[in-house]
Amino acid sequence: MNLSLRSLFFTFVYTVSFAAFAEPGENTYKQVCAACHGAGVLNAPKFGDKAKWAPLIAEGQVTLTAHAYVGVRAMPPKGGNPNLTVEGFSDAVAYMVNKAGGNWKSPDAKTLVAINKEIESRKAGLNQKQ
Ligand code: HEC
Repeated sequence: MNLSLRSLFFTFVYTVSFAAFAEPGENTYKQVCAACHGAGVLNAPKFGDKAKWAPLIAEGQVTLTAHAYVGVRAMPPKGGNPNLTVEGFSDAVAYMVNKAGGNWKSPDAKTLVAINKEIESRKAGLNQKQ
């Protein structure tokens, strides 16, 4: 293999492996959530802070994901990105949870239905208070 072919090959391997090994939710986390959760802006639970995340993880995947998606106090709905789907948001939550001591998977179809249901009832509850 000559030199240019070789560097082309490594560029290819690097690009493919980067795409293949990004964990679900990692890109969304970096693009949307890290701005606040990376450094703990506005007291956001900081990335990797196990003590901060433990009580949140204890709420369970359906409740925590749904409530954060709707927005909680200083946490904006959908992390401030109106185009973020429930699936994309869930993966970003699971990614942060897993980096802070949890072990959540991408929600399966059944869990997604439960998250969507909880989102609707949370919204209805918040609307009642106004
Ligand atoms: C503008 C800043 C900001 C961005 C962007 C942001 N968050 Fe947050 N987030 C917060 C703050 C602040 C809190 C703490 C809210 C509180 O308890 O007062 C929080 C809390 C949370 C919680 C815990 C909710 C709870 O029930 O206490 C989760 C889960 C969460 N964020 C997920 C995400 C995800 C996923 C993203 C990206 C898709 C994201 N956040 C983007 C500021 C942000």
